[in-house]
Amino acid sequence: MQKPKIYVTRKIPNEALKMLEERCDVTCWSQENEPVSRQELLEAVKDVDGIYCLLTERIDAEVFEAAPRLRIVSTMAVGYDNIDVVEAKRRGVMVTNTPGVLTETTADLTFALLMATARRLPEAEAFVKEDKWSTWSPMLMTGQDVYGATLGVIGMGRIGEAVIRRARGFDMKLLYHNRTRKPELETELGVVYTSMDDLLKQSDFIIVLTPLTSETKHLIGEREFGLMKDTAVFINTSRGPVVDEEALYEALVNNKIWAAGLDVFEKEPIRGNHPLLTLSNVVALPHIGSAGIATRTKMAVLAAESLLAGVFRDEPPRRIV
Ligand code: NAP
Ligand code: GLV
Repeated sequence: MQKPKIYVTRKIPNEALKMLEERCDVTCWSQENEPVSRQELLEAVKDVDGIYCLLTERIDAEVFEAAPRLRIVSTMAVGYDNIDVVEAKRRGVMVTNTPGVLTETTADLTFALLMATARRLPEAEAFVKEDKWSTWSPMLMTGQDVYGATLGVIGMGRIGEAVIRRARGFDMKLLYHNRTRKPELETELGVVYTSMDDLLKQSDFIIVLTPLTSETKHLIGEREFGLMKDTAVFINTSRGPVVDEEALYEALVNNKIWAAGLDVFEKEPIRGNHPLLTLSNVVALPHIGSAGIATRTKMAVLAAESLLAGVFRDEPPRRIV
């Protein structure tokens, strides 16, 4: 019997690749640090049963059209805003993602970014390495206190909750905003539900952790930055387009907010000439929320398991979008 054909859009961890190769005829884009071109992708999926992709590939009607045999798209990410799931459903193509296995690691990074931004760690480290440190002085490299401050989380899902659990260790006052209220978490974690505007006005630290949808695009813009305290630290580890970057830049240069820690950007990768990278009160990371070695391996394996389940239909994939 002919093996199902799979296209993998990047070099992925060996454990996951082996699983696929044991049962399928696998073609891979071989580069580790460069995404497959659109043309190459459209050509490569012509006769495949499954696509194993990353968040860097746009999987839309054009791709589905180019892949008439396609049965499943498995993405090695929890966010699936790069995939047109409505079109996939219309064509009977299953879409799977990797929720859960990256929750704690992404919460670790989110809290690390909050700490680094509040206490100016990258700036302070550069100061030492550039040999600028001449003496201890009272207000040298002073930042915002984290312990006991008010934290507001917008998007209280798996990662939002994991961040709140970390913040409890810092005795923070905890606020959240979600479309769905979570009374059981309010009781268990002492987190208080607020309207978005109240959260923005009251919080010292604001973290966005919603998915990117048509409803959350530019959820945080000029009006929202205008409501924040001028000492506020803003953190985005969700998706870049959830934030209006021009409005963020204006808020930072005009001291409407104090600093921003960003793991995600409207257009990735962000390059050296981007206005946000010129600001000393921005801490910028290259979308590494889930980048623990063990976590990335778990994500790769889960995406491979789902893909195999979707191609062979011998068991239902665990994470259908
Ligand atoms: P999740 O469990 O689905 O949580 C998302 C939360 O956002 C839900 O509680 C949802 O609740 C809320 N939400 C959705 N639309 C909203 C809106 N318009 N206003 C307010 N809240 C809204 O997902 P997760 O696993 O925590 O992941 C969240 C996102 O983080 C992912 O979609 C991904 O984009 C991003 N992420 C980034 C990294 C990274 O490397 N930086 C890593 C992992 C994930 P309601 O629907 O009830 O409102
Ligand atoms: C990473 O950003 C993910 O969505 O898994």
